[in-house]
Amino acid sequence: MESQAPSDTTDAAVPTEPAEAPRATANRSTTPGSEAFRAYIGSGWAERPEVTPAPRAQASFAAARRARVSELFPGKRLIIPAGRLKQRSNDTDYPFRPHSAFAHLTGWGSDSEPGSVLVLEPTADGHEATLYFRERAGRDSDEFYANPEIGEFWIGARPSLAQVAGDLDLPTRALAEVDPLLDEADGETIILREADPAITDRVDAARMVLWDDTDGDRDPEDHEDDDRLARDLSELRLIKDDFEVGELRAAVAATARGFDDVLADLPQIVANARGERLIEGAFYTRARVEGNAVGYDTIAASGPHACILHWTRNDGPVVPGDLVLLDAGVEVDSLYTADITRTFPVDGTFGETQRLVYEAVLEAADAAFAIVRPGIRFREIHAAAMAVIARRTAEWGLLPVTAEEALEAENQHHRRYMVHGTSHHLGLDVHDCAQARRDLYLDGTLEPGMVFTIEPGLYFQPDDLTVPERFRGIGVRIEDNILVTAGGAENLSTAIPRTADDVEAWVRRLSAR
Ligand code: GLY
Ligand code: MN
Ligand code: MN
Repeated sequence: MESQAPSDTTDAAVPTEPAEAPRATANRSTTPGSEAFRAYIGSGWAERPEVTPAPRAQASFAAARRARVSELFPGKRLIIPAGRLKQRSNDTDYPFRPHSAFAHLTGWGSDSEPGSVLVLEPTADGHEATLYFRERAGRDSDEFYANPEIGEFWIGARPSLAQVAGDLDLPTRALAEVDPLLDEADGETIILREADPAITDRVDAARMVLWDDTDGDRDPEDHEDDDRLARDLSELRLIKDDFEVGELRAAVAATARGFDDVLADLPQIVANARGERLIEGAFYTRARVEGNAVGYDTIAASGPHACILHWTRNDGPVVPGDLVLLDAGVEVDSLYTADITRTFPVDGTFGETQRLVYEAVLEAADAAFAIVRPGIRFREIHAAAMAVIARRTAEWGLLPVTAEEALEAENQHHRRYMVHGTSHHLGLDVHDCAQARRDLYLDGTLEPGMVFTIEPGLYFQPDDLTVPERFRGIGVRIEDNILVTAGGAENLSTAIPRTADDVEAWVRRLSAR
């Protein structure tokens, strides 16, 4: 349910250099070009105090993660770009968000610099990490006042190499110094291809030259090692370290406050013709105040919109008598996100059929949670939830077969009312570890430190003739964030009301204030 990023459109020929002129603004630029102006604006600035911070709490965790990657790729140079700004339209970009693998291995989150590159250089006994990034330009350059994309006058000062080295406890170098490593890339260089397409193109071009010279029949499309790196970096995140668990707890706590904010605004939300937008806005305010952003586009779905799984248009009204399905998560500054859904009655009381459906979904969620412990298979969680969904939908007379028959692999009639999965890993990405092998993910075995969602739902489309009219237009999902512990599991989001009675009391208490 994440938003789709557009393809990168920046200049592939000179990927580590800033654009020479701001995009599409040259014709309307009024920046003076006279020597007198340049000299004047380049002088008269106070010295900047250079304060080198102590390493942030995540630095030692990131170092341990890099050590594990090092063991997997002995003797190979590993290139892990942060990615770059992605164009939204004309001269506006989306807010920068580094690739999750880069954030994981550096500890650099919402404050990371676009275009940066982490390199793990092989040594006799492992790898040496260096972070290349564009440090702030001096006031003697024109970048700082004349470049709206990256200039200090426009977006604020970038940190110095020494500041970031201290902050992340990681050696740093100027971005331009990474160029030779890219241009001389050979078979011993492995790159995380998806992070920065321009850098990947550059590495591919260098490899092509080498292969033409030395290895003519090698297939340029063959990047097995690169793919292995992407897979291994994804798998490395399957088990969260203590820092990550702490950040996920913080993300869930902020998300809980965001849900409270929404309920407190219900009177205005109901009064507005686009009440769903007000829900989205109230939650987004909390996400920006406490964290970096939302971890994915908020789903604020009232009434039958709840049956549209990725309803992010959020432009409908919120009407008393409806249920609202709110699926939202705060992404904290380290970029870990919560992913929580609650479904609540707008007027504080579930209708009879709404409550029936709600309690079936809650029963499915609780049945799934009850089996979570180290050693079970990830896919068993889904099976436990589906057993309840099949049983209840059969009981209500919705299925043309028995619950047992529906659960057979070749049938699955109950899935008409819940076409999505029950669980996905959660972390830096809302759908975390997506490139992990099936053996370690869906068919994998749970281990302490894994964090994932449990999110069963039931969705009865307004025009579904297989269900009695009273079910039509009801959509319910309950989504919690679960940590596997040594002895079982912890529901990280249990403080957000879950039972029908508690949800009703929650809505009444907050919306009446
Ligand atoms: N909000 C995305 C999901 O639940 O997977
Ligand atoms: Mn989810
Ligand atoms: Mn969700």
